[in-house]
Amino acid sequence: MEHKLYKIAWMPGDGIGNDVMDAARVVLDALKLNAEYVRADIGWEFWRSEGEALPSRTIDILKSSHCALFGAITSKPKEEAEAELAPNLRGKGLVYRSPIVRLRQMFDLYTNLRPCKAYRGNPLNYRDGIDLVVFRENTEGLYAGVEFHPVPDDVRRALEASSSAMRAFKDIASDDMAITARVITRRGAERIVRRAFEYAGEHGYKTVTLIEKPNVLRETSGLMTRVARQVAQDFASRGIELWEANIDAMMMWLVKNPQQYGVLVTSNLFGDVVSDLCAQLVGGLGFAASGNIGDQFAVFEPTHGSAPKYAGQNKVNPIATFLAAKLMLDWLGERAKAARRENAIAAVIAEGRVRTYDMGGQSTTMEMAEAVAGKL
Ligand code: NAI
Ligand code: MG
Repeated sequence: MEHKLYKIAWMPGDGIGNDVMDAARVVLDALKLNAEYVRADIGWEFWRSEGEALPSRTIDILKSSHCALFGAITSKPKEEAEAELAPNLRGKGLVYRSPIVRLRQMFDLYTNLRPCKAYRGNPLNYRDGIDLVVFRENTEGLYAGVEFHPVPDDVRRALEASSSAMRAFKDIASDDMAITARVITRRGAERIVRRAFEYAGEHGYKTVTLIEKPNVLRETSGLMTRVARQVAQDFASRGIELWEANIDAMMMWLVKNPQQYGVLVTSNLFGDVVSDLCAQLVGGLGFAASGNIGDQFAVFEPTHGSAPKYAGQNKVNPIATFLAAKLMLDWLGERAKAARRENAIAAVIAEGRVRTYDMGGQSTTMEMAEAVAGKL
């Protein structure tokens, strides 16, 4: 077999991002992945010292890498962001923007992938046998950023001219009204649903459930539904079924019968909600990994934040980051290494001897890393 040298951008970020990434490295080294890990600056520290949480030198590294592994960053509201800037940078009108949101836009990372599996022996499992994979559209929908307040006159007039539903608001002042547009495109819907079906095919899932609300959001959820039915036809011969569920009802079904579902696909806001629920069904922040994936590039991360109160304490659970690296190996096409890594993680969880505080144990971040590496 050919041993490819990968270039992987290594972005620990802030706080416990450093703890979990150091641990992830121990496990990657035990796997002997033929890779060069290139450290790249990102996060609050660089906002404070340079006024830029995602420096251009980092973007250059990302552009010449196969993909990136990212820890976590700190972010704070506007006033605090300004106040924490180095004195020489204050008052210059610098605006903090979320680096991860910018990376999603810059590299068109339209898929947010979040597998949520109940590993046997995890004391935090809501129930055994859960194996869900959430595909959240990452670039449009209600998070497209098309928002108005106050509502400009021309926007208002255009809406009133083309929608009779606007009559209900005719007496409201434009300043007393805010509008967020939910933008769904055929291209956006098609590519996320197709990725979900492809994943189901490659990983042996028999159903893809579209989670929308087409009976009320007739146009946007309606378009998602029509596109999903079309895409599903291409996969019918492979025995993968499309199921359709409304977002509200699905919140009940996922709590009642989470084992019945496989791959889930949905638009941006619904996906944000669904993926947090699913993560909590299988152990919460210490277990929740995600991939932000485009056609050319991808960034993998644990979904938790920088948890400042635990920073540098060698205490938090690194499994979410181990699983993020597993997703990365899958995406790189290193399926055998990905499977070995997942099996090692599963074995340590099943044994139950090494558990971090969130799992009810007292093991450290590094003890978890050494236990998993030991299985390799
Ligand atoms: P957080 O996810 O950092 O931590 C919340 C709590 O969850 C922690 O205090 C801890 O009790 C628990 N926790 C988190 N990760 C854990 C792990 N690996 N093992 C065990 N327990 C864990 O969220 P919080 O406190 O709301 O935000 C802290 C900072 O992180 C903020 O500046 C926030 O903006 C940022 N943030 C960054 C994210 C990212 O980088 N993707 C995502 C979420 C928040
Ligand atoms: Mg979220």
